[in-house]
Amino acid sequence: MERADLDFAHLPFAYRKTDANIRYWFRDGAWTEGELTSDETITLHMASTCLHYGQEIFEGLKVFERPDGRIQTFRLDENAKRLQRSARKLLMEPVPEDLFREAVHRVVRANRRFVPPYGSGASLYVRPLLLGASAEVGVKPSQEYLFLVFVTPVGPYYKAGFEPVRLIVEEEIDRAAPGGVGDVKCGGNYAAGLRATMGAKDKGYSEVLYLDAREKRYIDESGSSNFYAIRDNTYITPSSPSILPSITNMSVRQLARDMGLAVEQRPVSVDELGTFEEAGCLGTAAVITPVESITYRGTEYVYGKRGEAGPVTTELYKRLTAIQWGEAEDPYGWTEIIPEEG
Ligand code: PLP
Ligand code: COI
Repeated sequence: MERADLDFAHLPFAYRKTDANIRYWFRDGAWTEGELTSDETITLHMASTCLHYGQEIFEGLKVFERPDGRIQTFRLDENAKRLQRSARKLLMEPVPEDLFREAVHRVVRANRRFVPPYGSGASLYVRPLLLGASAEVGVKPSQEYLFLVFVTPVGPYYKAGFEPVRLIVEEEIDRAAPGGVGDVKCGGNYAAGLRATMGAKDKGYSEVLYLDAREKRYIDESGSSNFYAIRDNTYITPSSPSILPSITNMSVRQLARDMGLAVEQRPVSVDELGTFEEAGCLGTAAVITPVESITYRGTEYVYGKRGEAGPVTTELYKRLTAIQWGEAEDPYGWTEIIPEEG
């Protein structure tokens, strides 16, 4: 295998053309055989429900090249299940887990030369999409669906990698509401948050931290990741009906327990902002990103030394990435090797 000619150690988190993507259609009550194609465009009916009624959901997962050269997925089954939950919530056709796995394996094999080498710090980001594809003008669910998976080699989501970022609490704009769709991964949630995220970036922050829409009192999450804080040997992370159940967070809660921390998943009030020792963001793209400070109503709450990740955050990051990169044992069976031939 000749590796793609890329500077893998300095990749941005961005789309890059690869060799193939894979597509399956749900028509007449059944999924088609998947088709690999190099075409980066899709042809959809202009009245497809994904285009005007928002029947569009997606996932994000990463695959990693291990020290032994084999490629592994991280918690693929959880991404498959979450896509099914998103589909059910938006009355879309759920993708069977086996089909999801087959799609990821086939598209990764077809793009083997784009999998960043072990040690580069980069990974192959996998983006499954599910789109309502039949023409409807009345508000109703689509009869047909397109399930598409593309990949792109990526570096860190925030430019500096494992370097602390500054967040600002957003009070005006809500990303999601209780009873809404904030707990599933649909494109509309990201559209709802764009103004907030761009506004924060304009002010020099990396991202916003949303509050619960009802009381504006409890921390929800950031625009692209879950949130946690460390205090008194305790890992504290919000529970809320309007945040995405992060698979990274689920994993890190386990690693925190393994480190002897207590784990609290509960409503986290903004009144606690001044009490945290460390804070961080959690996500497939964000991995664990240390939070240097949170600005709320004009006060900047700084966690630890500026520019330095705290000790608990650093240890959690090491443990998580060692499993993802195949350096450490995987006691919970989170990783799966992608067979070389399907
Ligand atoms: N919250 C939001 C809004 C996200 O977009 C993501 C990214 O997927 C996450 C949380 C983190 O979820 P996960 O760890 O499953 O990637
Ligand atoms: C992910 O972490 O996979 C996401 O989908 C977040 C996205 C905003 C890049």
